[in-house]
Amino acid sequence: MHIMSFKTLFHSIIIFTFFFTPRIAFSQKAGTVKNPGKPISKDLFGVFFEDLSYAADGGLYAELVQNRSFEYSPSDRKQWNPLTGWEYTTEGYGYGTISVESGHPISPNNPHYVVLNIDDPGQQGVGVTNSGFDGIAIKSGEHYNFSIYVRQISDKPIPVQVQLRGNKGIVYGTFSFKTQDKQWRKYSGVVLANQNADSAKLTIVAKQKSKLAIDEVSLFPQNTFRNEPNGLRADLAQAITELHPKFMRFPGGCLVHGDGLDNIYRWKNTIGPVEQRQQQRNIWSYHQSVGLGFYEYFRFCEDIGAKPLPVVAAAVSCQNSGGTWAIGGTGQKGLPVADMKSYIQDILDLIEYANGPVTSTWGAKRAIAGHPKPFHLQYIGIGNEDAQTDQFRDRFKMIYDAVRAKHPEITIIGTVGPAPSGKDYDLGWKFADNLSVPVVDEHFYEKPEWFLNNNNRYDTYRRQNSQIYIGEYASWGNTLINALSEAAFMTSLERNGDIVRMASYAPLLANLNHTSWNPNLIYFNNKTMVPTVNYYVQQLFSVNQGDKYIPNVVAFDTGGRDSTLASSCVLESQTGDIIMKIVNAGPNAALAKVDLSGYDTLGAKTTLHILKGNASDKNTIDQPSNIIPLTVDISFADLAKYKVPAYSFSVIRIRSKTD
Ligand code: AHR
Repeated sequence: MHIMSFKTLFHSIIIFTFFFTPRIAFSQKAGTVKNPGKPISKDLFGVFFEDLSYAADGGLYAELVQNRSFEYSPSDRKQWNPLTGWEYTTEGYGYGTISVESGHPISPNNPHYVVLNIDDPGQQGVGVTNSGFDGIAIKSGEHYNFSIYVRQISDKPIPVQVQLRGNKGIVYGTFSFKTQDKQWRKYSGVVLANQNADSAKLTIVAKQKSKLAIDEVSLFPQNTFRNEPNGLRADLAQAITELHPKFMRFPGGCLVHGDGLDNIYRWKNTIGPVEQRQQQRNIWSYHQSVGLGFYEYFRFCEDIGAKPLPVVAAAVSCQNSGGTWAIGGTGQKGLPVADMKSYIQDILDLIEYANGPVTSTWGAKRAIAGHPKPFHLQYIGIGNEDAQTDQFRDRFKMIYDAVRAKHPEITIIGTVGPAPSGKDYDLGWKFADNLSVPVVDEHFYEKPEWFLNNNNRYDTYRRQNSQIYIGEYASWGNTLINALSEAAFMTSLERNGDIVRMASYAPLLANLNHTSWNPNLIYFNNKTMVPTVNYYVQQLFSVNQGDKYIPNVVAFDTGGRDSTLASSCVLESQTGDIIMKIVNAGPNAALAKVDLSGYDTLGAKTTLHILKGNASDKNTIDQPSNIIPLTVDISFADLAKYKVPAYSFSVIRIRSKTD
């Protein structure tokens, strides 16, 4: 699905109920500025990416073959094994045997491969078939890059046929090659799809009596995001791009600190040639191919203009290990102190990988991967929602001291537990205060009422302490009222943008057939996707983020405070535009009075973007555009009294005279 850009929306102006009186409550005086505004964070709104709900494999990572290197195992999920996602294919009376072996792998990091011993290829050959992630979706006329590692075991070169197939033997595209020798060798080719299909399969068959080993079977659309090899699914990456995030946090979440010590995410396992990366169990009960690894994360951040924000574990595992999670230890575990030196070195190496010169050890690896220029890493997160224990504090401090000593230019983000209050929150803040951690990461998943009632949460926070990164937040649901409660709360983040430095809704992506967490910002299946109403709220804030907060511009006619009404006003210095956000999360229309007297940069051109509907409205995969922002031009004078529709979010951009 294509997300309508604001330009497109503008050109498809839609009539909506919106009325105002011509009474003008302000004047434009030349040479005066009533309030220059309070500077607020330039990095306020970003995204949180976690490989959760098949967000990476089977999602953003465009690989179409599931379990491409035969590394699935019961430790990922009890029913899984190296042949999960595959079937043995013996059509046309062919026969032989299939086995999973590990004696001569491509890489010790990728130990399993399949051996086919073909006694008789029959008329159609003997081999294996992969059904992708819920079937392989292909488009007519598009090209797909196929590759496979083969080690010929029998003596003669072996003809191999690759087909994209539907049911009943229908063939959508094909490619053939012949093995060359007895080395592991990569064979590549392009398959052209001759029709659209939602659930194609990929079949690889050897066409003569022979024995061969196969591994790392891969099929990517050529049409990935920016056509990059080992790339990202174009529609999902584009949807993230159109959020215009100021930063991207990766790779999680709980994925980072893992289910037990062996499951802590290790960034070094995720770089280099994909067939040599060390895969592992995903804490959310599936498998991480790590084809989407740290190099790809950094590249994506660069492509979309988002500052990279990698999060590393504070050398402790998730406190829910073995409890909430399927397998693992019991509760939070700390790495042995004897291992801390090398663990800390890994983190320092990460900074060198991102920013070091090509002459440095890790900068050289970045260059070999294809990126000699640095990635300009500015932030690093240490820890995720960790229980505030002595073992956590000891290890956090060791990492914190080492990173500060070697890289004072990096802004470290600490963690204050999984909830907006409580023991870990209190202890976490106390600890952060003691260490003067520059930024701490707060998380909250709450009901819409919580977001509406906590609009003043940061108004009274101490200004001299750590700044805040709200690394994960969402109201429980994807209906309009959920999105509006988030919008109301986000106005308070702008108002407090001097101490709230960053915020990211979480999680970002979920495959509809493999959702382990709700709600999410974008849902998808193997062929299409749906941005939620919450997505459009995030987008409207992000593309309309100013850098100065102007207080007391919008007043509602309710007199006292009504938690369903919220507003903010910012100045975008670069353009001189003034942007107001007005939220009505209640069932009745309200009147907003706008007072911008004294702002002489204002011109006549004013644009309104509005989301509105019924409280329970939502976007679905079948009706993805149920609730999307509508855009119209209005006049500056019309803002003296703005009737704010029930259940609506209005973003009003007043262009500077020079625009
Ligand atoms: O966003 C989903 C999960 O919520 C994250 O993995 C974790 O940090 C939080 O508890």
